[in-house]
Amino acid sequence: MAGLRGALLALLFGCSGVAAVWPQPQSLSVAPAGGCRLSAARFRFGYANSSAVVAGCAVLDQAFQRYWKLLFPAGQKDPEKGHFGDPSCGELLVFVTKPGCDGYPSLDSKENYKLSVSDEQMFLSADTVWGALRGLETFSQLVWRADYGTFYMNKTDVVDFPRFPHRGLLLDTSRHYLPLRAILETLDAMAYSKLNVFHWHIVDDPSFPYESMAFPDLSWKGAYQPVTHVYTPSDVKTVIEYARLRGIRVISEFDTPGHTLSWGPGVPGLLTPCYSGPKLTGSYGPVNPILNSTYQFMGKFFAEVSAVFPDVYIHLGGDEVDFTCWKSNPKIQAFMEQMGFGQDYRKLESFYIQRLLDIVSSYGKGYVVWQEVFDNGVKVKPNTIIHVWKQTPVTYQKELSNVTKSGYRALLSSPWYLNRISYGQDWLAAYQVEPLSFEGSPEQKALVIGGEACMWGEYVDETNLTPRLWPRAGAVAERLWSNQTVRHVQDAYTRLRDFRCTLLRRGIRAQPLFTGYCDYEFNTL
Ligand SMILES: *[C@@H]1O[C@H](CO)[C@@H](O)[C@H](O)[C@H]1NC(C)=O
Ligand SMILES: *[C@@H]1O[C@H](CO)[C@@H](O)[C@H](O)[C@H]1NC(C)=O
Ligand SMILES: *[C@@H]1O[C@H](CO)[C@@H](O)[C@H](O)[C@H]1NC(C)=O
Ligand SMILES: *[C@@H]1O[C@H](CO)[C@@H](O)[C@H](O)[C@H]1NC(C)=O
Ligand SMILES: *[C@@H]1O[C@H](CO)[C@@H](O)[C@H](O)[C@H]1NC(C)=O
Repeated sequence: MAGLRGALLALLFGCSGVAAVWPQPQSLSVAPAGGCRLSAARFRFGYANSSAVVAGCAVLDQAFQRYWKLLFPAGQKDPEKGHFGDPSCGELLVFVTKPGCDGYPSLDSKENYKLSVSDEQMFLSADTVWGALRGLETFSQLVWRADYGTFYMNKTDVVDFPRFPHRGLLLDTSRHYLPLRAILETLDAMAYSKLNVFHWHIVDDPSFPYESMAFPDLSWKGAYQPVTHVYTPSDVKTVIEYARLRGIRVISEFDTPGHTLSWGPGVPGLLTPCYSGPKLTGSYGPVNPILNSTYQFMGKFFAEVSAVFPDVYIHLGGDEVDFTCWKSNPKIQAFMEQMGFGQDYRKLESFYIQRLLDIVSSYGKGYVVWQEVFDNGVKVKPNTIIHVWKQTPVTYQKELSNVTKSGYRALLSSPWYLNRISYGQDWLAAYQVEPLSFEGSPEQKALVIGGEACMWGEYVDETNLTPRLWPRAGAVAERLWSNQTVRHVQDAYTRLRDFRCTLLRRGIRAQPLFTGYCDYEFNTL
């Protein structure tokens, strides 16, 4: 009877005893027997003696609370019957080498950690609080539920670190407004998959939801709705702090000189008036690069942006500049002649971008730009990061090869436009990418600092954001975190399916990969 009941419960709880971790750690060994029972009544997180970071560190104090709740969700009891023999796990002691808790994660932050669970103790050590966060995530994924629903942790050793330091996800809040809660939920799921950069493509042609303190008219006149469809200074602070507490950097993108139609109403004279022959058409093109007032505005605007977003890097866009309007404008034609640019409008773009880069670097910021800035031969500082997104006219491999040959650091997004969907398991294509499969020396390969999954907003708002992102963005997360050799598709499928179930259990509406079920379906939480 007990055997049958055990078997039924095993079925019910999917008691495989297999601890899957997503993304796959660099080194993971789980013992086939031994370990301990985790009970909500007894289990605690704590700081190890002589840790440089101790209680009072908000990043870890709050992470302890979050992960405790994730391990023991309200309403899921931890029955102890049937496991009297197994020892009960005590504390997970966390040891951090370097002091520092109040700062922000950066491109140089170390995220390595070691986790060891034995009969005697559970110990997590990391160089920084950011690494400790990654280790807590891994720990939480290693806890499984045995027969009778008991929470269980095997003897385990993990040594882990990311392959690439920049593992990003782009959200586009201009084409559709995403409410704050959708952004915060995305940050949660990013932390679950160890992504560490939120690239906030905050404004674009359709709308300007960023509420500027220096230029309130930008969102007043450029947002879809100036009260309900904006990010106030306090919203922006909330996002930045929520991200920080999860070890996630926030890189804002204010794309210019193209993609700026929504800036126009709030800043008269900023955009180029377009002509048809000698007549004004009434429509506007990219930012007007020939006026001093343009640079005065940019100076003031980016002074604010530099202060509001603490990350060293700002994304300055620079993609898809349409030269048609510039070409039509007689004042711009005259300026081109005066500057000796001939008919090469890339030189005008270059003129603009260079002045903008000077402004932004005068505030001590570094910058990321889309690949066209490089393609168009704009002179940029050697420390510029070039964001590769196109598939044509040359493949992204060719582009990466070219960018790194010129000595620039690169980020890859071309194969990771997750807004594009197709029938079937389209996470596979994203998963099978190898970012370094381009021709180049080891020095060139070392210049690829990572990549980003992009979720452009033409057809995406809060209703479909989460299922479209998850678990598909997980494919990119593993590619950027795990060893290059981790690419076994069947193994990945099994773990990603489990990870998706973990996301459901944590309240994230991740879509299914294929036929199947989860022990805890979304509506049974
Ligand atoms: C964890 O331990 C249980 C027994 O306690 C065992 O059945 C299971 O296979 C172990 N998990 C792994 C991944 O070895
Ligand atoms: C940590 O320090 C306390 C007090 O000094 C001591 O009681 C405890 O045994 C120490 N724990 C470990 C794991 O060394
Ligand atoms: C713009 O500024 C430059 C240098 O500061 C100056 O030489 C030029 O006359 C100014 N142009 C206008 C139209 O004010
Ligand atoms: C590589 O970059 C150089 C200089 O930026 C450019 O002239 C060349 O056309 C590029 N080649 C490819 C294949 O993109
Ligand atoms: C990745 O895995 C391979 C094969 O297991 C190993 O040789 C290599 O050292 C690993 N790379 C890192 C950075 O650990």
